Amino acid sequence: MLIAPSILSADFGNLARDVEAICEAGCDFVHVDVMDGHFVPNLTIGPVVVSSVAKVATKPLDIHLMVENNSFFVELFAPLKPEFISFHIEEEKHPHRLVQKIRSLGIRPAIVLNPHTPPESVEFLLADVDMVLLMSVNPGFGGQKFIPSVLERAKRLKALIERHNPDCLIEVDGGVSDKNIALLKEVGVNVVVAGSYVFGNENGYKDAIDSLKV
Ligand code: DX5
Ligand code: ZN
Repeated sequence: MLIAPSILSADFGNLARDVEAICEAGCDFVHVDVMDGHFVPNLTIGPVVVSSVAKVATKPLDIHLMVENNSFFVELFAPLKPEFISFHIEEEKHPHRLVQKIRSLGIRPAIVLNPHTPPESVEFLLADVDMVLLMSVNPGFGGQKFIPSVLERAKRLKALIERHNPDCLIEVDGGVSDKNIALLKEVGVNVVVAGSYVFGNENGYKDAIDSLKV
């Protein structure tokens, strides 16, 4: 299992320190939640802050866009050379075109599905993306409760991925902890995002990250 701690739960007054710490603690990606106050009822960070994160991060960035006007935000973040940029399928009229645009910028494209969105809706995008992110909470906030129907969605997605693009990764985001990590592994999830579980763990970041590496 690959681990992508979400810096939404970091201490923004000590962001560089926290980003360095999760990288040293053995995470695989640094998950960055970009919210615009329109697509979701919360507002986070833009390229100025994320460029400071990129400077201290020793692991690749996984940028999760929760915005209207995806194409504009892709252009804004592309110069930071993240590993992945993911965008919500619910907010994009031309997802196939946007996937190609992200790839043409040298970034691995990923698509995100809200908790109500069936995996079948992206079947004909799977051949062109490197990762599908299944939300296991409603996007907008850290620290929410895990929605268990993501397990069924992951199973169905896995079957489609095996048909269309076996190298495509499945990522799950929201309410991930040591309580559900075994179930996520069982249904074929490859990457988990964890915010409050990693940053709020009383045994420290390394213990938290290690406990998710199943
Ligand atoms: C929610 C974000 C998540 C969030 C996860 O919109 O996409 O990445 O930070 O936080 P936890 O792990 O606390 O649910
Ligand atoms: Zn996220």
